[in-house]
Amino acid sequence: MSDNLLEIEKLNVDYLLDKGEFRAVKDVSFNIGRGEIFGLAGESGCGKSTIAYAITRLSKAPAWITGGAIRMDGQDLLKMPERDLQKIRWKRIGMVFQSAMNSLNPLMRVEAQFHDVLYRHTGCSRQESRARGEEMFRLVGIAPHRISDYPHQFSGGMRQRIVIAICMALRPEFIIMDEPTTALDVVVQREILEQVVDLQRNYGFSVLFITHDLHLMAQLCQRIGIMLKGELVEVGDVHQVSQAPLHDYTRKLWNAIPQLPSKPHLSGALA
Ligand SMILES: Nc1ncnc2c1ncn2[C@@H]1O[C@H](COP(=O)(O)OP(=O)(O)OP(=O)(O)O)[C@@H](O)[C@H]1O
Ligand SMILES: [Mg+2]
Repeated sequence: MSDNLLEIEKLNVDYLLDKGEFRAVKDVSFNIGRGEIFGLAGESGCGKSTIAYAITRLSKAPAWITGGAIRMDGQDLLKMPERDLQKIRWKRIGMVFQSAMNSLNPLMRVEAQFHDVLYRHTGCSRQESRARGEEMFRLVGIAPHRISDYPHQFSGGMRQRIVIAICMALRPEFIIMDEPTTALDVVVQREILEQVVDLQRNYGFSVLFITHDLHLMAQLCQRIGIMLKGELVEVGDVHQVSQAPLHDYTRKLWNAIPQLPSKPHLSGALA
């Protein structure tokens, strides 16, 4: 079995607009290893979320995947029938998208939202999904009994943790996190990411972590990729890309960050 869980090869995604087509992702190739946290960074609009949606084939019109391969365990997700993909989403690939905390249904108790996801993939009873939900709440640091509350009864940071908890309830092998904590203050952001690192160590899943915050990425990820205008201009070990960047744009990105006094790494994420 290959060391890579995910292999993206020459991925192209276009937006078909009235004024013509626009290639948002150009020949992008990178791999994510088993148990690896891989970071993808780059300026706003460079195509990061477009890649995240393409991996799960949740891209919606006018986005169009026009070429390439996305292999998970050697199987090309781009060639897979939709019904097979539905079995993979959530079960094998968890997703926490930008502004995910607003993706909870405000009219449903959180308990019911856990049940929806778990029932669809495992056919479990309400009792079983409640037990799993409570276990996941404990893992992300929320009192388990609160699972019977509605989303508006939680803070923004708690809602974000709940989305992460739901995403991990089926123990996926791979989790896509697209700016999972951007809307939160830095202390809460740090707390949540420390939990993600702990969980990752316990369960060994792989992560695609998307952010424009290079500091955070350097603390969390083992390898990173830098995007510029739809192209992946650099991929490599986080130390190499931060300390000896090969591309001029990468150098500019690092230099644009104010130099802060060095802080301890997240839970030894790079230990
Ligand atoms: N629905 C859409 N229709 C047309 N163009 C789009 C659409 N969604 C995204 N784009 C364009 O595709 C490009 C890539 O967008 P994408 O959302 O992938 O960027 P991003 O790197 O995730 O940015 P950010 O850091 O701001 O989230 C941008 O130029 C954007 O304007
Ligand atoms: Mg985005």
